[in-house]
Amino acid sequence: MTSKLPAANDPAQVERQYATDQHLQTRIDTQRRYSVGRELEAEVDRLLALDGSEALLDVGSGPGHFPGRLAAGGHSGQLVGADLSGGMVQKARASFGGVEFVQAGADALPFPDATFDVLTARHMLYHVPSVPAALEEFRRVLKPGGRFLAVTNAARYMPELWDAVDEAATLEATLIPLTQIRGGVAAAFSEANGEAWVQDAFGNAQPAVLDNALMFPAPEPVLAYLESHSAWLALDETEKRRGRAALNEVLAQRFRAGPWTVSKRTVFITAAR
Ligand SMILES: C[S@@+](CC[C@H](N)C(=O)[O-])C[C@H]1O[C@@H](n2cnc3c(N)ncnc32)[C@H](O)[C@@H]1O
Repeated sequence: MTSKLPAANDPAQVERQYATDQHLQTRIDTQRRYSVGRELEAEVDRLLALDGSEALLDVGSGPGHFPGRLAAGGHSGQLVGADLSGGMVQKARASFGGVEFVQAGADALPFPDATFDVLTARHMLYHVPSVPAALEEFRRVLKPGGRFLAVTNAARYMPELWDAVDEAATLEATLIPLTQIRGGVAAAFSEANGEAWVQDAFGNAQPAVLDNALMFPAPEPVLAYLESHSAWLALDETEKRRGRAALNEVLAQRFRAGPWTVSKRTVFITAAR
């Protein structure tokens, strides 16, 4: 085995994983194609209840889908996306008009105090080196009365999938770094610690959850999803071949009776400045 999985917020891993949108796009496509049940975007819209006039900053905006969707929907207030990755910012700028995209870290946002009415941090706080430092910065750029929304994975996010990875790792030790992903994300920012951190930063925090699922028709998209993670990308070709064989053996059992349903629990934490 040539590699170990560092924490979800290891800066070198985060930089490699998000240098371009390639790997993230695989996971976005997986979610779009195979999600069943209540939609995440509908829950975000319900929680934010935007009237369209707000100045909104989306931190960790990646390829820009969220502010891009708001712009396309006629949001007339200022829309800004910020991301640490130059590749992501480039992709977002090329994809979406009506949004300003800037390259910046969550803990050093290039905006004056009290600039935004709303700040969103979607599936990104588990990557930052210091959650309290990022939350402090978010609070700084929000106007008094401004609102904050964090979106993250619950500790039990896709448990059936990660149980299958655990099982495959008992057949092939090369997969051990992949088994550490769920624990790494949960430890970095989940319902277990996120609400307390937001409460500390804002003096208030309101959690909500969304339960839905992925329904996979066949093992291939499951493998593609797993193979988009840094822990897989760090394996050499021999390790990948052996890891894939073990995963295929375990997944064959899961698909014996037809499509395989993997449950998802997403956590939302809102706060007001
Ligand atoms: C899982 S992606 C989420 C992208 C988008 N928010 C979404 O929900 O599809 C995480 C994003 O956070 C960015 N990121 C990671 N660490 C960051 C940091 N410290 N400051 C700003 N962005 C960061 C990554 O470059 C990546 O684009």
